[in-house]
Amino acid sequence: GKVAVLMGGSSSEREVSLMSGGGVLTALLDRGVDAHPFDPSERPLADLKREGYDRVFLILHGPFGEDGTVQGALEVLGLPYTGCGVLASAIGLDKLRTKLLWQALGLPIPAFELVNAASDFDAIEKKLGLPLFVKPATEGSSVGVIKVKEAGGLRAAFAEASKYDKLVIAEQFIGAGEYTAAVLGEQVLPFVKIEPATEFYDYEAKYIRDDTKYLCPAPIPAWASAQIAEDVKKAFWVIGGKSWGRVDFLMDEAGKHYLLEVNTAPGMTSHSLFPMAARAVGLSYEDLVLQILDTTL
Ligand code: DAL
Ligand code: MG
Repeated sequence: GKVAVLMGGSSSEREVSLMSGGGVLTALLDRGVDAHPFDPSERPLADLKREGYDRVFLILHGPFGEDGTVQGALEVLGLPYTGCGVLASAIGLDKLRTKLLWQALGLPIPAFELVNAASDFDAIEKKLGLPLFVKPATEGSSVGVIKVKEAGGLRAAFAEASKYDKLVIAEQFIGAGEYTAAVLGEQVLPFVKIEPATEFYDYEAKYIRDDTKYLCPAPIPAWASAQIAEDVKKAFWVIGGKSWGRVDFLMDEAGKHYLLEVNTAPGMTSHSLFPMAARAVGLSYEDLVLQILDTTL
């Protein structure tokens, strides 16, 4: 049958999605799948039915794509699609609701505070300590994320982050390392450790700079890996996750892990982490794409 690669979209991660989608499309065509790009910001999703598509590879990032809206439309159209359903997508793109669910399950997460214009900024800085991170609740690729290093810096960081979302979160800094766990079906793939040359793994370090280092499998002792993998599975399960997704986490100096967020339509660019994790188990980019597509069956 004919496969639509949903890519582009209207979020601030549009360019990332076009890169991800380009990779996915090429991989599908290489493997003989009748695949075509489809940008829902340019035409109505109902065209998918009219043009005879029978499956969708969804690789839109951010709001109006990764957040359950497009998933809902595809459900109504009766078209099978890759990735999480409506509920998991909506929760996963919302860092606040994700944290609240993880907290309820007793999963380890960094301390955080919701920030608004009326917040006591000084009290939040004291409570979480410096540095701290400020982030809009519903963006991806670190868009709008700011590291506050100086006392008194939270106010300006909040003003900046709130350009992206009404909901803004301040989060405790966990300093020893940034990692990710790719979930493919029931499997947790080997972890990737990210060593950015920048202050943190921001948009530049993700897609533009070539000096970010990646270690896969990440150097984590086996006993800790098993515990982290268990927590990652629970974290993905509790949001209602299926098909594929990526759970990002941090480690502190004592080797304790803290879950950060989930990505329900992970990046598939040439710089992206999910394909890196797949390669560590001998799965090429093309194999990975086909395996993700198979989760629609
Ligand atoms: N939000 C980006 C695409 C990622 O998590 O890979
Ligand atoms: Mg994200």
